[in-house]
Amino acid sequence: SRRLTVTDIRKKKGQERVVCLTAYTASVAWRVDEVVDLILVGDSLGMVLYGLETTVGVTVEMMINHGAAVVRSSRRTLVCVDLPFGSYQEGPIQAFHTAARIMKETGCQAVKLEGGKEMAETVRFLTERGVPVFGHVGLMPQMVNAVGGFRKRNDGERILEDAKAIAEAGAFAMVVEHTTPEIAREVTAAVDVPTIGIGAGPHCDGQILVTEDMTGLSAKTPPFVKRYAEAGDAIRDAVTAYAEEVRAGRFP
Ligand code: KIV
Ligand code: NA
Repeated sequence: SRRLTVTDIRKKKGQERVVCLTAYTASVAWRVDEVVDLILVGDSLGMVLYGLETTVGVTVEMMINHGAAVVRSSRRTLVCVDLPFGSYQEGPIQAFHTAARIMKETGCQAVKLEGGKEMAETVRFLTERGVPVFGHVGLMPQMVNAVGGFRKRNDGERILEDAKAIAEAGAFAMVVEHTTPEIAREVTAAVDVPTIGIGAGPHCDGQILVTEDMTGLSAKTPPFVKRYAEAGDAIRDAVTAYAEEVRAGRFP
């Protein structure tokens, strides 16, 4: 069987919802691959796996190592890798260089970058040269130091302009992060590519969550996350039982 393509994802607009999750590792990727349409190797791995305060410290090397593991451990989903902070904001040429390196060294089919109007020229440059781009508007975590925190976005006019600009520039889909359901609904109606919501209400064309967040493995989770499992509790119970048995001489 072949992997889903960016064309397959784009064609779901108006037909069926697009189901996305993150994966950073082989152990998560092979489970998620059986179920979702798109796997994102998100730069959230800096916070979730590396314990960083923000995603600003994530490097291209981290993204390549985790991206390659996820591609090797999946076979049917579209795999998209985030471009980390500082690896594309200088302009289209820097962005193409980074994206091409990540695609060659991981085998991923697309990259994601944060930004609206100010990134439209870069989105166009990449898509016209063979790099499919997943956009990301609304709350943009790489902007944390410039905007003073991870705050919900209520400026609908700006988000709408941003979404239209990157759709027009060729993005095959876009994340819409942490805004109101009404703004997300307007954005979804205004662009002809799938909007993938996270903390943006029910009206998007698809949804994404961080797998560690929705399974209860992350140290901290954003308020909008629904927990579908308590895997962290399962690990704590397992290691506690193991420790008791080893200390009591019952295992092995
Ligand atoms: O890095 C990430 O995991 C993301 C998603 C939450 C959209 O960008
Ligand atoms: Na990200």
